[in-house]
Amino acid sequence: MSFNPETPYNDLPVLPPNTEIENRQVLKRAIAAHQTLAELKGFCATLADESMLLNSVVLKEAQASSEIENIITTQDALYRALAVKAENAAPETKEVLSYRKAMWSGMKLLETKGLLTINDIIAIQQEIVGNTAGIRTMPGTVLRNDATQRTIYTPPDEESTIRQLLGNLQTYWNTSDSTDPLVKMAVSHYQFESIHPFYDGNGRTGRILNVLYLVKERLLPSPVLYLSEYIIDRKGRYYSLLQQVRTDANWRDWVLFMLDAVEATARRTLSLIDAILRLLEETLEQAKASLPKTSYSKELIEMIFNQPYTKIEHVVDRGLAERRTASKYLQQLEDAGILESFKAWKETIYVNRRLFDLLKE
Ligand SMILES: Nc1ncnc2c1ncn2[C@@H]1O[C@H](COP(=O)(O)OP(=O)(O)OP(=O)(O)O)[C@@H](O)[C@H]1O
Ligand SMILES: [Mg+2]
Repeated sequence: MSFNPETPYNDLPVLPPNTEIENRQVLKRAIAAHQTLAELKGFCATLADESMLLNSVVLKEAQASSEIENIITTQDALYRALAVKAENAAPETKEVLSYRKAMWSGMKLLETKGLLTINDIIAIQQEIVGNTAGIRTMPGTVLRNDATQRTIYTPPDEESTIRQLLGNLQTYWNTSDSTDPLVKMAVSHYQFESIHPFYDGNGRTGRILNVLYLVKERLLPSPVLYLSEYIIDRKGRYYSLLQQVRTDANWRDWVLFMLDAVEATARRTLSLIDAILRLLEETLEQAKASLPKTSYSKELIEMIFNQPYTKIEHVVDRGLAERRTASKYLQQLEDAGILESFKAWKETIYVNRRLFDLLKE
């Protein structure tokens, strides 16, 4: 079948691919990726409160993933929005927050059903782009090379074809077979991006689906992997490998790329979590040593690790103290050099600077 970048690819082959992908090299790298993922999963299982790290990691993923479309948000603006009011945030900050919300909605759907359907994917995409346009019904969507503006790919443009292809992908995604799940994740991602079912948000939706797939396959306990950063850092290669599947049926290099992405990111996530935990330990020690005995609370310290920006209200909401005491506690943490404060919209925001710096790296 000849492929022409200028004509809608309504002949996109259905899954599974009709070639053998899993040669020795692929399987070897899949094993390496599985080992690192297992380590990450094991590490998460030892944590008393997984939600603390999850918040940070998902936020990092949301930010990284949103940057592929140049939604550059500073970490600072992001945390400000979280601590103060998301409604006041700049549009790009809101995009990152939508991404995070979409990831959580997807998780909920997955948890209740154990699988994701086309409608679930549409729901995830709607949260990302903030409109209800849904699956493309009008022709005209093309992918261009940013620099040259040449058309590199024209996705299928018949709604019925798009729906059929999505149905096929849904079956592939939700049926276990003898193919390695990490290979299936890579294959699914290629297929989803090639179907390109939406007018916009296909990249972000696809990247959320990657992480959700790992959760579905029980390779991760929760979306505790910021996989998008790897892809964004290698955007040119990512695009060109997607393209090579199409032009040269070069599945292997594409799959190897995604296997490396999983391995490298799992390793980075592990060391991030490790660094956060070590900082938490240090901070607990420091607080114990410098705060009056009556003010020291392990829960309070853990709370300022939930997200880098905290305010009095958060302490109150957690039931750790009433307002006046909460305010005193945070002030004492600032005096001890553990928090820094600034004012925003008449509120005092307390920053866990060292955590903030860790997440920024
Ligand atoms: N040659 C290609 N073949 C298949 N898919 C491609 C190709 N080039 C880009 N893509 C996919 O299209 C996505 C962009 O599509 P779209 O603009 O709808 O998504 P987005 O989420 O808004 O953007 P982004 O992924 O840039 O954040 C890319 O992330 C990539 O996954
Ligand atoms: Mg876009």
